Amino acid sequence: MARDSDAPVAVFDSGVGGLSVLSEIHSLLPNESLLYVADCGHIPYGEKTPEFIRQRCVVIAEFFRAQGAKALVLACNTATVAGVAELRERYPDWPIVGMEPAVKPAAAATHSGVIGVLATTGTLQSAKFAALLDRFAADIQVVTQPCPGLVELIETGDLLSPTIRNLLQGYVEPLLAAGCDTIILGCTHYPFLKPLLREMIPASITLIDTGGAVARQLQRLLTQRELLAQGHAQPTQFWTSGDPDNFRNILPILWKKSDSVRSFVS
Ligand code: DGL
Repeated sequence: MARDSDAPVAVFDSGVGGLSVLSEIHSLLPNESLLYVADCGHIPYGEKTPEFIRQRCVVIAEFFRAQGAKALVLACNTATVAGVAELRERYPDWPIVGMEPAVKPAAAATHSGVIGVLATTGTLQSAKFAALLDRFAADIQVVTQPCPGLVELIETGDLLSPTIRNLLQGYVEPLLAAGCDTIILGCTHYPFLKPLLREMIPASITLIDTGGAVARQLQRLLTQRELLAQGHAQPTQFWTSGDPDNFRNILPILWKKSDSVRSFVS
């Protein structure tokens, strides 16, 4: 199917986490029109089965194809490990960008030889993540920390609450005790906790996330296929399978723009 360069780019996550990636895409490619689905009705993906997440990926991808999207970004590590292979098989001609915890750059950055990974249970238990460690972190110590409950708290938009602080502190302590000098934020929700994390960890520790790399990969794919937008971007359109009012309230906190939010029913 031929696609128009001024068609929108589709982005999705289980919730608001992918907005951290959407911001990177918008900064790098300001002419691109963006569509975003937050699958808040099924959050957290991190505690669901891979099969369930694969099905959600297909439902959301079909929706975006019906909207005429020229490319798809899985702004979610957990959805990528579960679903990107199936999506690429189903839609071989559609540019699809997935994401994975930044093990390679972290392995290159560490001096202590110990890196930490904060991610969802689903991501850390996946074969794709195990393969990533085998490939890029064979010679270093990797301390993995699943963070159940964190995503749900981030979804409230209160990023400095005592509850979120306590939970995060408990997840970060084992990484500090192990001597990590580099911490990977392996879930797209976690970059929103950077200010809080910075209060908890020494300034010498490097935090690495993947949003910027995803935006650059999207730029590469669109350039290769001559699909970069030529005109000006249309306002970003949002859908959520959760409560649209909740999403409307959180959007100015995490995206800092007021755009349309509609219900995503499926
Ligand atoms: N933001 C997602 C990720 O990058 C998943 C969060 C969740 O729903 O568990 O992994």
